[in-house]
Amino acid sequence: SKGEYRHYMLKEIFEQPKVIEAALEGRLSASSVLVESFGPEAQALFQKARQVHIIACGTSYHAGLVARYWLERYAGVPVQVEVASEYRYRHPVVPEGTLFVTLSQSGETADTLAALRFAKTLNYVGSLAICNVPGSSLVRESDMSLMTRAGPEIGVASTKAFTTQLIALMLLTLSVSKAKGQPAQPEIIGALQALPALCQQVLGLDRQIEVLSQAFAEKHHALFLGRGAHYPIALEGALKLKEISYIHAEAYPAGELKHGPLALVDSEMPVISVAPNDDLLEKLKSNLQEVRARGGQLFVFADQKVGINSQDDIHVLELPNVHEALAPLLYTLPLQLLSYHVAVLKGTDVDQPRNLAKSVTVE
Ligand code: M6R
Repeated sequence: SKGEYRHYMLKEIFEQPKVIEAALEGRLSASSVLVESFGPEAQALFQKARQVHIIACGTSYHAGLVARYWLERYAGVPVQVEVASEYRYRHPVVPEGTLFVTLSQSGETADTLAALRFAKTLNYVGSLAICNVPGSSLVRESDMSLMTRAGPEIGVASTKAFTTQLIALMLLTLSVSKAKGQPAQPEIIGALQALPALCQQVLGLDRQIEVLSQAFAEKHHALFLGRGAHYPIALEGALKLKEISYIHAEAYPAGELKHGPLALVDSEMPVISVAPNDDLLEKLKSNLQEVRARGGQLFVFADQKVGINSQDDIHVLELPNVHEALAPLLYTLPLQLLSYHVAVLKGTDVDQPRNLAKSVTVE
């Protein structure tokens, strides 16, 4: 049941500290990931993996895009990420030693399942399903699986399923990294353990985000900006907003502004950005100046240390400091809350948006 919450989506957003903890439970040692979490064959398969192909749809695809940044940076393995509906009808070239990974909350998404079946006819070393439903078709038909343990997700808009997929993908990154003999990342393990409490803290921004949401209720468009692993987080923020509030939203890597979307920016175009304290921060800040110079209204979720202050045309909400690797997880939460509150203000059917189904079992 929804309990004290008005909608399942809100309940599921607030469950994230708990389910992130569940997704980590029994899968970490003091300084590394227990590779056996992926099953008995995992170590051998990860050692063989010279590259990774990740296939998914919708929000799960966005999780895959984040994983590309992680796997390349921390495991030194090249990664391709693609939506299943495109992949399954291409003629993909599969280099020797490629691991095939699917991501799916339901494990029944028609295109993702078809992509797996197609991949089995190709030259992959093996397949891994990261999934929230044990015993689903995707899990049954893959060589290995890792459950995300988000619990049932009722809201059509995926929230806790996404953040637990990110946890699973970080576990994958660290496991592949270890199997490939890369240096251990004990600080990321520590940061993973500290993450549920940080998420709890960010959920404390709910009331402030609700106030902020008023600025969006009358708008017809919104632009989301991010850089690096936060570009996919911007994509996810835009998908959430369009899915439940029906406001047209687009996401761009902030560095692409000048190459087109800047022409859209005026006082009627709210621009939402996430600004963690990473090595792209200075670049991002100058992109935000470009928006301000065009009269755009900025809404920035920023690390408390980045020193961007609220002014007339820029609204800043501060997030606690987090290990750079895990910032994409933390910065997802305020974007979920923002789209939720905008949708509530607009009076849409939050848990059951028009034209959409929770599980897309037809092509
Ligand atoms: O069950 P899956 O993760 O395979 O579903 C994929 C998409 O249909 C799903 O993520 C969809 O984009 C969500 N409704 C987004 O909130």
